[in-house]
Amino acid sequence: MLNKLLIQGGTRLDGEIRISGAKNAVLPILAGTLLADGPTVIENVPHLHDVTTTVELLGCMGVQVVIDEKLSIEVDTSTIENHVAPYHLVKTMRSSILVLGPLLTRFGEAEVSLPGGCAIGSRPVNLHIKGLQDMGAEIEVVNGYIHARADRLKGARLVMDIVTVTGTENLMMAAALADGVTIIENAAREPEVVDLANYLNTMGAKIEGAGTDTITIEGVEKLTGTRYRVLPDRIETGTYLVAAAISGGRIKVKDTDPTLLDAVIDKLREAGAEVTCGDDWIELDMHGKRPKAVNIRTAPFPAFPTDMQAQFAALNTIAEGTSTIVETVFENRFMHVQELQRMGADIEVEGNTAIVRGVEGLTAAPVMATDLRASASLIMAGLVATGETEVQRIYHIDRGYEIIEEKLAQLGANIRRIPA
Ligand code: UD1
Repeated sequence: MLNKLLIQGGTRLDGEIRISGAKNAVLPILAGTLLADGPTVIENVPHLHDVTTTVELLGCMGVQVVIDEKLSIEVDTSTIENHVAPYHLVKTMRSSILVLGPLLTRFGEAEVSLPGGCAIGSRPVNLHIKGLQDMGAEIEVVNGYIHARADRLKGARLVMDIVTVTGTENLMMAAALADGVTIIENAAREPEVVDLANYLNTMGAKIEGAGTDTITIEGVEKLTGTRYRVLPDRIETGTYLVAAAISGGRIKVKDTDPTLLDAVIDKLREAGAEVTCGDDWIELDMHGKRPKAVNIRTAPFPAFPTDMQAQFAALNTIAEGTSTIVETVFENRFMHVQELQRMGADIEVEGNTAIVRGVEGLTAAPVMATDLRASASLIMAGLVATGETEVQRIYHIDRGYEIIEEKLAQLGANIRRIPA
């Protein structure tokens, strides 16, 4: 159902919330269940639309999926009937491409729709395909579908032209059951890549070096179902920290991992926030102050994440001073700018750079979410705008944030969801 969010701005957030399991870890891990003989149980699964889509995707193939109320999902692939990821699911969730490597390496064939473009740029999957070809797969694109075949993939040295997160994950999964050793160079170092490697290793894979730019995978004959707990969502964590900061408030986020957020925490401190961290919690206090403008340059982990760029753009709109935001990961990731301008923000975009001149305040407006993190930035802006902001098309936000309005309401925000 189409919903929208109404936010009455001006409340200073104050309180505690719990962070959910990471979207970008659970999606590859669910795809990775296709590699397992025997049932797998995944714990700390966030309740997100992208998870539902992945479950539907597995279900389409005949895989049995049981969802438990206590945030766990059990997957049994013994009933699999086909190896197809259809267009109608892939087009709503690009990370469906993650089933390509597992299907091909375990069953010798896969048919996966090409994802096509998306709001934040063209986002090709050429490196996923090239890596699999280098491992011996025969791949053709016919009628918009990638058709891949291989008797058994062979270990290879894969040098990635660009650091790609899901590309690294797809190839790591394919290599896990390949014949021989695969080395992925210029691999993505994101914590979610490490989480996937840890998961695969608990199933019997032999993967070393995840978290560095060289990952070595010694292929094994088979992987066995296991039980695995997904790591906390660092982007959800960062988003709530920004929400508290923009409102001048205080927050304690629990069940998270501060070591995954160094670059984000540094920027929040630079913006004037007092940040304290424990083993699995982060506390931020803005003491009612207006944030200071902070320059941002996105890049692969451990640098500042592109998935936090839009939220910091919102923070900078009301900050003291002028900031520069450089987006180096995606070609068209400033869709939130035009909507923020409608709320009174002073932002100029020139190529991959946005110049944000902080204003004293924003004013509420009806705004439209265009992608997941852009939606989050509009909510951040709504929290401080004068009047009632209406965020439309929030299905984008439900893809990646678990009950955002409830968590924000728990912090004192005046926010509610209504049918559009
Ligand atoms: C993942 C994340 C997404 C995050 C992004 C960057 C998931 C499910 N999603 O997306 O939230 O914003 O990492 O941190 O984990 N590229 C190519 N060819 C390819 C693959 C990628 O040119 O075959 C380019 C992309 O167009 C982009 C850059 O590489 O410019 C990085 O993209 P990539 O890391 O692949 O993003 P995703 O894995 O799709």
